[in-house]
Amino acid sequence: MVVRSISSTLDQVMSSPTANPTNRFLYAACQHGAEPVLKQALCEPEGPFRLAYSAKGFLTFKSNMATPIWSRALIEHPLVRSRGTVLERIEGTESGPMIEQILSSYQSLDWDTLHVWQRDTAQPGWNGFEPGESLLAVSVAEQLRNALRRQNDVREVRAGGLSRENPQVPVDIAHAPSSVDSPDSSQPDGALHRSIPESVLVSEKDTESDPETGTAETSGGDGLIRIADDKGADGPIPRPVPQGTKILEVIIDEPNRWWIAAKYAQKSYDFWPGGVPDLFFPDEVISRAYYKIAEAFSWGGIQLRPGEKVVEIGASPGGACQWLLDCGTKVTGIDPAEMDERIVNHPNFTHWRNRSREVKRRAFQGFRVLVCDANVTPNYTLDTVEAIVMYPTSRFRLLVLTMKLPDWEHAQKIPEHLERVKSWGFESVEARQLGHNRREYCLLARRRVSQRHSS
Ligand SMILES: C[S@@+](CC[C@H](N)C(=O)[O-])C[C@H]1O[C@@H](n2cnc3c(N)ncnc32)[C@H](O)[C@@H]1O
Repeated sequence: MVVRSISSTLDQVMSSPTANPTNRFLYAACQHGAEPVLKQALCEPEGPFRLAYSAKGFLTFKSNMATPIWSRALIEHPLVRSRGTVLERIEGTESGPMIEQILSSYQSLDWDTLHVWQRDTAQPGWNGFEPGESLLAVSVAEQLRNALRRQNDVREVRAGGLSRENPQVPVDIAHAPSSVDSPDSSQPDGALHRSIPESVLVSEKDTESDPETGTAETSGGDGLIRIADDKGADGPIPRPVPQGTKILEVIIDEPNRWWIAAKYAQKSYDFWPGGVPDLFFPDEVISRAYYKIAEAFSWGGIQLRPGEKVVEIGASPGGACQWLLDCGTKVTGIDPAEMDERIVNHPNFTHWRNRSREVKRRAFQGFRVLVCDANVTPNYTLDTVEAIVMYPTSRFRLLVLTMKLPDWEHAQKIPEHLERVKSWGFESVEARQLGHNRREYCLLARRRVSQRHSS
């Protein structure tokens, strides 16, 4: 037998991983580099958590609170991408026996869905790496699914990346890429992203043969933002899922070391393996900002109506604009730098080639959605956006701000940022470091009506 449970203090709870509600271990997954901030934020001197295990992008904490396994794990922080209750850690040299062990211990548990995902192996965007994509996770998920099916267990098994249908991928964990700083270079960048054909970047030839392709709607659109409903929607926004789902997780820390965890899913990102949505991306994106904005709207469960007028500050070269145009919106990009020519030539795109502060504030009348991705300090972003949003003729209802962190410690100021945006009259203001964010986080603010000016 090549599988063994780790002998450590964890054994106190491992002897009966699902039975003991006290002194549980909880995990938090995050981006490489965020660990010191999280350790400091979560392990307060008199607080309930003590650091138990630390790897890049993955931490466990011992909790001194009674925590049933299907509870909302108690670690809340904008830099925490995924969190849950640790059940067990297993090691082995072959995936087959490890999978057998998981089934023998947890098949009888009342979980609804099984997630398999791998701890980040690099920082987002490093040499083509994007969080959530893991051939190893896909392979392990496939093996688990097959093993469950053989026992007529049809519960859902999902993995980061191509989760539902498995291509021919290696399953030899002895030779799988481990937690190294370089992703598998044999895979082209973004190889696991499934394509959507309708991006604005279709070739001229494609456009000629299908005039509809890539052309956003230019008519209609009353500008209302709608939250994706239960029926879901076609396009880049994924279908919402029911709340209160019990998710068993297999977290690949190293190819030969997996953590088994439990998560009671309630928020959109809880349903994404490892907290990274499984979105459809075009083969060619102008910049990584395409991934960021797609994830931001998915996180918020927000869908833009075709024809909606959107303004983006810091728009060059145009990845976010590409996504917004793919959604059928009319986009104005503000940036002194050049835009990608495919964006500039799009009929629904307007370029204001200025710094944001050079634009007259009344020019923002008619927009209800503001996106900002300028590479400036958080205070500069907030000063700029405040001046625009608080101008008497402004009617903004949705702000999607990428807040660049000059250093990781700056994350401590996130609560102040949120308070400041709330003071502008936005009812819902949230922060999350998205899977595709680098040293930055996404601030999402909404309000139902323009309260300051409704009369
Ligand atoms: C990270 S890039 C934006 C990427 C872009 N959102 C995309 O989708 O490809 C940051 C951009 O912010 C722009 N920028 C910096 N300060 C700005 C300002 N005050 N007003 C407008 N744009 C600004 C820079 O010129 C740069 O192009």
